[in-house]
Amino acid sequence: MPKPFMELDSRIFVAGHRGLVGSAIVRGLRRAGYSNLLLRSRQELDLLDAHAVAAFFAEARPEFVFLAAAKVGGILANDTYPADFIRENLSIQTNVIEASKQVGVRRLLFLGSSCIYPKLAPQPMPESCLLTGPLEPTNRAYALAKIAGIEMCWAYNRQFGTRYLAAMPTNLYGPGDNFDLATSHVLPALIRKTAEAIKAGARQVVVWGSGTPRRELLYSDDAAEACLFLMNLDEERFVSLLVKDAPPLVNIGTGEDVTIRELAETVARVLGFEGEIVFDARKPDGTPRKLMDVTKLRGLGWRHTTELEQGIAKTWELVRNQFV
Ligand SMILES: NC(=O)c1ccc[n+]([C@@H]2O[C@H](COP(=O)([O-])OP(=O)(O)OC[C@H]3O[C@@H](n4cnc5c(N)ncnc54)[C@H](OP(=O)(O)O)[C@@H]3O)[C@@H](O)[C@H]2O)c1
Repeated sequence: MPKPFMELDSRIFVAGHRGLVGSAIVRGLRRAGYSNLLLRSRQELDLLDAHAVAAFFAEARPEFVFLAAAKVGGILANDTYPADFIRENLSIQTNVIEASKQVGVRRLLFLGSSCIYPKLAPQPMPESCLLTGPLEPTNRAYALAKIAGIEMCWAYNRQFGTRYLAAMPTNLYGPGDNFDLATSHVLPALIRKTAEAIKAGARQVVVWGSGTPRRELLYSDDAAEACLFLMNLDEERFVSLLVKDAPPLVNIGTGEDVTIRELAETVARVLGFEGEIVFDARKPDGTPRKLMDVTKLRGLGWRHTTELEQGIAKTWELVRNQFV
């Protein structure tokens, strides 16, 4: 194993450390023995406040930054508050990236998501399909803010010689997930519906859509491991990701997908639901397929370790008290 680039006592700022991704990064860092984590809640440091962010960086002088703070939401929230999504995300990332440059942060990892890629991107989606076609309209404001963040990392690298990398994880799931049926993603929604069916003694779980769309899912702790892996790459491999003629961008995923039907069946197996899974094909299916091309990340030597059924079982162990 090559020596990790970050020292165990390096000053590391995890922005958004209470979120699904940020909390998993903090767990990963602690597991690996990192002891000098700089963590601030939104009450302590509002990342929308440029002066407060600059003052925090000047005082704490982080050497490494994981930028996992963002205004995040489902289709409804994105569609209803597009101005908030573009303004807040542009502000958070601008404030953190500029403050990082001011104090000479050694490496920064900016997190985005697969919605940066065109709606009709080739499947699986390689990093090179960025800006090759129109975006999905429902979260265009959010996606454009994230694309601007990638562009900003790239521009700062070119103009100031910084080492800022953007990582785009696929759909994540894990213990800190949102289980509210009105706003949750497909897997937490399936867990909740199945848990409630078991509790009520129901014989059926009704799942929206035909069950045929395919989805890729990655356990949040695995995504965090990938983030640490990227941040800890030796100088030669890290710099190889920061070329002049392509954005500094790496997909994080499993490179494998399952149908919604397979997903629902896996959840039923893990939770012990023996009734029937019924698909309501009158409800919309969404995109037929959304799969990351993870050739770049695999080429660097990273692969996920938590398979889907195992990840769902781990999640269920940690959240079951909320439902029983
Ligand atoms: N979840 C996924 O499936 C997924 C997949 C791919 C990529 N990502 C990316 O990963 C990043 C984080 O997503 P997530 O799912 O972890 O989101 P999340 O659970 O909503 O966490 C976001 C975090 O950012 C913090 N934050 C937001 N605005 C802030 C502000 N003004 N000042 C300080 N902190 C602020 C939030 O603080 P509060 O706790 O105070 O609200 C929260 O801790 C996003 O860029 C997202 O695109 C997520």
